[in-house]
Amino acid sequence: MAKIGVFDSGYGGLTILREIRKVLPEYDYLYLGDNARAPYGTHSFEVIYRYTLQAVKYLFEHDCTLVILACNTASAKALRTIQQKDLPEINRQSQIVNCLGVIRPTVEAVPAITKTGHVGILATPATVSSESYVLELQKISAGLTIVQQSCPMWVPLIEAGEHDKDGANYFVDEYLSAILEKDPQIDTLVLGCTHYPLLLKKIEQWLQQSANHQTINVIAQGELEANSLKNYLSRHIEYCEQLSQGGSCCYLTTENADRFSQSASVFLSEPVKAQQVILGS
Ligand code: DGL
Repeated sequence: MAKIGVFDSGYGGLTILREIRKVLPEYDYLYLGDNARAPYGTHSFEVIYRYTLQAVKYLFEHDCTLVILACNTASAKALRTIQQKDLPEINRQSQIVNCLGVIRPTVEAVPAITKTGHVGILATPATVSSESYVLELQKISAGLTIVQQSCPMWVPLIEAGEHDKDGANYFVDEYLSAILEKDPQIDTLVLGCTHYPLLLKKIEQWLQQSANHQTINVIAQGELEANSLKNYLSRHIEYCEQLSQGGSCCYLTTENADRFSQSASVFLSEPVKAQQVILGS
């Protein structure tokens, strides 16, 4: 029997896993955070693709039949190549496997939320440079005005456990001010990186304190991805039939297991005992 794999460069994918487990608690999950090589968002396409493929193959080799790329950077830079080039090869050799990303489910929710039609995307430098959000949003709703802002310091702050401290306020202000100066009519901000919900409290506080931006909608991806996966499984019975239903979740990290366990336990409000693994060779 098989599990659902959830992959991110580090802690960010936990924001997706938590929501998926609320909606689909019956399945067994294997989470993999490549914390040793995070952040991915400042790497080139080749590196992001290579790291992501190593992680995805690892999860397939460890009993996962479906892998969720709970990482926008990996979804933007590596998903299409993995789906088109690598999955057909893997599927020829073994069981049926598939890999799903987080960008499409997020994009699909945006048109119903924005009233002004002005949408801001906060994401890593790699996701911004891929233009994935802009291209996907324009495909489904041509009239939207989309502005992007890369936030290169947010993931390092979160990976270092500094996101709740006062020092993080400086970079919250820097990127929110920048995107809203580019387009003051934005009424919807997409957190286009799975790490960013860990800064949600600070982001909401900043918006509340700013006279013109109190009504801005902030979109986090967890619930959207969870509902999208539920919908996918209802249409793909061949995966449901393979999935075991023990309600368990195991955690793997490429960095120190104790540190991951401690941070993940705080974030998920439940005990986490992670195991360290090595990706690639
Ligand atoms: N959580 C990843 C994302 O959604 C962060 C990428 C990074 O490691 O920079 O993009």
